[in-house]
Amino acid sequence: MNNNITLLEHKVSPEEREKIKGHKAFCIWLTGLSGSGKSSIANELDSRLTSMGFHSFLLDGDNIRRSLNKDLGFSKKDREENIRRLAEVVKLFVDSGLILITSFISPFEKEREYARSIIGSERFAEVYIKVPIGICEARDSKGLYEKARNGDLKEFTGIDSPYEEPHNPEIIIENLDGTKIPDHIDSIINYLLSGKIIKAKNPQ
Ligand SMILES: Nc1ncnc2c1ncn2[C@@H]1O[C@H](COP(=O)(O)OP(=O)(O)O)[C@@H](O)[C@H]1O
Ligand SMILES: [Mg+2]
Repeated sequence: MNNNITLLEHKVSPEEREKIKGHKAFCIWLTGLSGSGKSSIANELDSRLTSMGFHSFLLDGDNIRRSLNKDLGFSKKDREENIRRLAEVVKLFVDSGLILITSFISPFEKEREYARSIIGSERFAEVYIKVPIGICEARDSKGLYEKARNGDLKEFTGIDSPYEEPHNPEIIIENLDGTKIPDHIDSIINYLLSGKIIKAKNPQ
């Protein structure tokens, strides 16, 4: 740690930001296997919150791996560093007052817990998109499971790199049927309403 660096105290308080936005700052952290439906659900949720008049934003793992984290691969060490950096970025978004939705595989409990600890557990909900690997593999929209099975893609989550199931997620979504996605979005919206993160100010 560099002793010549002093942290700046923000003059604007979280409450002032909350008042302007009309909702609390929050992180909805989706986790699950590749192909479980994280990006699809995150996008729908972002769209629903926006249409309700709330200020949300979506950070998608693949997008960040093409930009900020393009120097990182898929070894255990790089996966840990990927999530460590992402957690810091998410914290900044949440500090700015947004409802931030993330869609990262985030396979390790330790890094998810790290994210929760730095963002703050009162501003964090872990949402486990729970889908059996066989179904994710059958979907294989990006052809990655096939590549992993053929040995053309190494260290693929669920095949030759582990996925640690969340111990105690705030929400579990069994995303088995595409027609049910609006219902899953309803469940997350209801969670935000009951936790008073958002108020039902606009009709959905
Ligand atoms: N409930 C579902 N039933 C069927 N297909 C789905 C469902 N949810 C998502 N999909 C499809 O599965 C594929 C992977 O979804 P995606 O959201 O990209 O997953 P992830 O971001 O977790 O890798 C996409 O083609 C998507 O349209
Ligand atoms: Mg995705």
